[in-house]
Amino acid sequence: MSNYHIKHFEEYFQVYRKSVRNPEVFWEEIAEEHFLWRKKWDNVLSWDFKKPEIKWFEGAQLNITENCIDRHLHTRGDKTAILFEPNNPEEPTEHITYRQLHERVCKFANVLKSKGIKKGDRVCIYLPMIPELAISVLACARIGAVHSVVFAGFSATALSTRINDCDAKMVLTSDGSYRGAKTIDLKGIVDEALEDCPGVESVLVAKRINSEINMKAGRDEWLQPLLDEAYSDCVIEIMDTEDPLFILYTSGSTGMPKGMLHTTAGYMVYTAYTFKNVFQYRENDVYWCTADIGWITGHSYIVYGPLANGATTVMFEGVPSYPDFGRFWDIVDKHKVTQFYTAPTAIRALAKQGSELVEKYDLSSLKVLGSVGEPINEEAWHWYNENVGKKKSPIVDTWWQTETGGIMITPIPFSTPTKPTYATLPFIGIQPALMDENGKEIKGNQVDGRLCIKFPWPSMARTIWGNHQRYKDTYFSAFEDMYFTGDGALRDEVGFYRITGRVDDVIIVSGHNLGTAPIEDAINEHQAVAESAIVGFPHDVKGNALYGYVTLKDTGEGRDHDNVRKEINQLITDRIGPIAKLDKIQFTTGLPKTRSGKIMRRILRKIASNDAENLGDISTLLNPEVVQDIKDNVL
Ligand code: WT7
Repeated sequence: MSNYHIKHFEEYFQVYRKSVRNPEVFWEEIAEEHFLWRKKWDNVLSWDFKKPEIKWFEGAQLNITENCIDRHLHTRGDKTAILFEPNNPEEPTEHITYRQLHERVCKFANVLKSKGIKKGDRVCIYLPMIPELAISVLACARIGAVHSVVFAGFSATALSTRINDCDAKMVLTSDGSYRGAKTIDLKGIVDEALEDCPGVESVLVAKRINSEINMKAGRDEWLQPLLDEAYSDCVIEIMDTEDPLFILYTSGSTGMPKGMLHTTAGYMVYTAYTFKNVFQYRENDVYWCTADIGWITGHSYIVYGPLANGATTVMFEGVPSYPDFGRFWDIVDKHKVTQFYTAPTAIRALAKQGSELVEKYDLSSLKVLGSVGEPINEEAWHWYNENVGKKKSPIVDTWWQTETGGIMITPIPFSTPTKPTYATLPFIGIQPALMDENGKEIKGNQVDGRLCIKFPWPSMARTIWGNHQRYKDTYFSAFEDMYFTGDGALRDEVGFYRITGRVDDVIIVSGHNLGTAPIEDAINEHQAVAESAIVGFPHDVKGNALYGYVTLKDTGEGRDHDNVRKEINQLITDRIGPIAKLDKIQFTTGLPKTRSGKIMRRILRKIASNDAENLGDISTLLNPEVVQDIKDNVL
């Protein structure tokens, strides 16, 4: 019997036990019964966390778009696959049926082919949340091209770094994008980025805002005329299970972002299976995840997971505050959304507006609420539960990462009891472990430690593009034979997990994963800056905000400090994007360092968080005297 849809708590335990006692038998059954394969596997799993090398369903062949689109055509051809809700509520909603999606993906795939894109080529997608984004992702997958979506809020420098890192031949973009009342000149950003990207041969441009843009002859072309000419059927490329599906960049503790590589079969099986269970998805539900497809949440739970289940997935172009803070609830009401998946930072921003705007709309269609991206604080959890869910829709606090491909720790709604701020229990097949600083596993309950995963799961990233050593060093070297997540967690008296936050140099701001190193690199480019250090401090909407300690080359006297602050934030905006801007910048005479020269961020973090009372022993510092100065001038 299939365990594809878990409906109660007892069943969760039964299926979980089965999945960890005999993972291969378990995943084979799921894969066999619920997907379309062109050839079956020889071996379900082979793995070695030392190398590290992980292979799922080796020997099998498939195409993920056949699973996400073609196989639904007989039964769901006229069902809405993608429900596109534009930025401007006056503009009509677009319902793209599975049949139309098939045609549009095929046409797009044929355009890519006509421009010389072949299996294995990398295509960079820098598009706003318009249908072309989802369609181009699927078009790449259909012909075996590897998509690398770059969130369209990243700067030209961030874009060019990502294009060059994976040697993308082509960039897909639009003339511009809408963001609330503003428009953004995306094509201008692409033009600037491409000055540093000699490998890019072509740029295809979708028309969205009808702006005047520059088209470089021989390189740039409008997309629509090419689509109009394209043939509306495109045979799938038959892929091996471990063929690359996509690259998605995430921040790391050095300046270079990490291009996480996800492969085909395991990713498909796991995202589809988690989608079905974590959202208790049923036919005719209208599912909405508010993330951007530029992040892993959008890849797995706007595009692949929902479509593999034949679901209707909402794609929203706009922002929660436009035309007013009732927009999310307006959309839920208008489309009778059944599952709503968003980030704590959005919940906090909306909660700040009070409950009147929520009450204006009929939210009775909602069955399940989700949260992702950062720990959800108790207050936000209750607000969400009471005002949005009316205490009848369970909240799934889903913990996972770009690297994990799919949801790892989460309640299963109507099965697992929820507990505010707890992601609760591991999903089927996931074997978490808490480790102490000496590398030993901490058993039992009411303990905390560093969160690791002991056993492979189908959707884990297989490598960092072009840098397998870094993959090994980052995830498989801290603890022997374990995948290390970078997060800390605690396990309560009944075994529920609560994620306590990052234990490395990554800071989560508004649900965005930011590495300290690339931001410090950007600051240090300022000609007056000698050194800098970034830490996070609590912020009521963003969760964390960034606090920068900056030492200037000269004494800084006679300088307009506010001007330097502006210039620093401009540099960060240029190099990374506005999401990485600093809320506070303190000029210091020095930074506290260990004798080996490492900046003591722990101290800086405490000072920035107004928790400077117990800094612990600072006498071992190279320069303890700077600490008092920093404390005296804290912002
Ligand atoms: C980091 C991964 C997974 C999609 C979005 C973020 C934090 C994520 C939760 C949660 C507490 C969470 C972790 C994780 N995080 N979800 N439910 N509770 N923390 O993907 O950008 O790769 O970031 O986000 O710190 O390691 P990402």
